[in-house]
Amino acid sequence: MNQLGTGIAITGSGSATPDVVLDNHQLSQIVETSDEWITTRTGIRQRCLADAKASLSGLAAQAGKRAIAMAGVEPDQVQLIILATSTPDDLFGTASQVQALLGASNAVAFDLTAACSGFVFGLVTAAQFIRTGVYQTILLIGADMLSRWVDWSDRGTCVLFGDGAGAVVLQANERDRLLGFQIRSDGTQNNCLKLAYIPQSQQLVKDIEVGQGNFASITMNGKEVYRFAVQKVPEVIEKALFQANLTADDVDWLLLHQANQRILDAVARRLKIPSHKVLSNLSQYGNTSAASIPLILDEAVRSQKIQPGDIIASSGFGAGLTWGAAIFEWGR
Ligand code: ACO
Repeated sequence: MNQLGTGIAITGSGSATPDVVLDNHQLSQIVETSDEWITTRTGIRQRCLADAKASLSGLAAQAGKRAIAMAGVEPDQVQLIILATSTPDDLFGTASQVQALLGASNAVAFDLTAACSGFVFGLVTAAQFIRTGVYQTILLIGADMLSRWVDWSDRGTCVLFGDGAGAVVLQANERDRLLGFQIRSDGTQNNCLKLAYIPQSQQLVKDIEVGQGNFASITMNGKEVYRFAVQKVPEVIEKALFQANLTADDVDWLLLHQANQRILDAVARRLKIPSHKVLSNLSQYGNTSAASIPLILDEAVRSQKIQPGDIIASSGFGAGLTWGAAIFEWGR
């Protein structure tokens, strides 16, 4: 065991969002919708959108830089960078570009894809490297630009998503502040939410053809995803709390993936967690996929809403289908 211990502490957070804001009124010029419909069904009022020249790696690096600064570590002390994203700049992986932008020359970097569960899956993955004593300082970034893949003529999906990035630094610690976690997948429901590759066959020579296609826009069965979320999320949080030897009464903050205010409210109700403990910023940003949890975590830490020692129940859920929960205590 190294001198720092093999417990996990989350010691810094950071976030970044594009400057361009599209509100519901502007959106109603693109598709047949209204501010009233969107706010009552989702709680979303506006979202930030990356412009055509913006890179996912640039936004992710900005968030990462701020998290590293808060943690008080130098870029070359970071040993691992995990970039949770479904919208990479490069399908071969974008984390290495983030590593280069940060000057984190000693870090190994890789992408992790689990849609809106990406941050929680990344947290659990990072934790394994610390618990086994392999690494002591890890940067985990959740970043997505779903605006790249939304069908802007589909009012059922385009009103929901926004772009953003959030990050945390995990460090080895004598005391383990990751108190419990659960992660899950159910591929039988994959059709509910997809950003699928559509192959088009191209014949190379007689009898040999390959699929040379592209990715289609996001498709979603909103009702099914809603049903899945309100059933599975409370369940997985309860299991993670049980593992942590805690109950919902011990939770200071419910930190859910920011998909829809109605999902947040329903999950909180099922867990009997009062609304003043539910973190929500989706009115400002919409659903930013893997970025949503670290984005709101960073906001709440910087505004001193979240204090060191606070117990946070976080949960991500989305395409795959995937879902998971992590219970942790904020701070060193
Ligand atoms: N504006 C106006 N009307 C609309 C819009 C819109 N933007 N979108 C749909 N409608 C209409 C529909 O056409 C339908 O009209 P009809 O009754 O004449 O057919 C009516 O509104 C109701 O549509 P529903 O789809 O039944 O609306 P619902 O109440 O289910 O709300 C919503 C839709 C908000 C998408 C909801 O199902 C939801 O939030 N689901 C969860 C989605 C989610 O969170 N997805 C992200 C998961 S995270 C990830 O991994 C990316």
